[in-house]
Amino acid sequence: MTTLGVNIDHIATIRQARGGHDPDPLQAAVLAELAGALGITAHLREDRRHIQDRDIYLLKQIVTTHLNMEMAPTQEIIKIAVDVLPYMVTLVPEHRQELTTEGGLAVREKERDLAKAIETFRDHKILVSLFIDPDINEIKAAKRVGATHVELHTGYYSNATDPLSVAEELGKLKDCALVANKYGLNLNAGHGLNYLNVGPVAEIDGMQELNIGHAIVARSSLIGMEAAVRDMVALL
Ligand code: PXP
Repeated sequence: MTTLGVNIDHIATIRQARGGHDPDPLQAAVLAELAGALGITAHLREDRRHIQDRDIYLLKQIVTTHLNMEMAPTQEIIKIAVDVLPYMVTLVPEHRQELTTEGGLAVREKERDLAKAIETFRDHKILVSLFIDPDINEIKAAKRVGATHVELHTGYYSNATDPLSVAEELGKLKDCALVANKYGLNLNAGHGLNYLNVGPVAEIDGMQELNIGHAIVARSSLIGMEAAVRDMVALL
């Protein structure tokens, strides 16, 4: 069975727009778990544009499924991760100007640094997932550096528009899944998945967890609108 990990970053993005307390990503995490999510993901970015240090520490206290801390493997964030002790970290590349994580990690280019970071996490019994492009050589490199999981970047699949490109991108994900399964790597995927395109990815053999954020937060903002307006009208 493929399970759902809900990425709650965008709840924090809305909160940061006003710099106050609402909406609180912790409350979103509780509701997501109540609705059946089996994991909560939050990305503590170096620029703290959405999730804050306080969120990560408190999520560790309240998440009852598992906490997946998405992060760039920098000294500062690694230090926080080994203090928080999430169930798993997902290592991603980070660029200041990007709107969201743009590409996968270049594992082959950074094998030595990644292996060192992964050893630190292993010493603290934290599982490590590497967010990688659907490239077989990156999967092999992920195995070499000691990752326990890979998260396949589904952004290319999600952005494909014509049926041929969609099939081609799905084919790459499937090929990578075969290799990850063969190498004994746990298989996750995410980025850009939505209510229309998630099905074929969820059906890939060995797919364990899909991390989805934007589509869920976007839909919740719309399907919650009616109730929120009704409550305000009642007060007026
Ligand atoms: N996985 C990773 C590694 C990500 O960086 C993101 C975006 O924060 C997601 C999954 C979720 O992507 P989306 O918000 O498009 O569902």
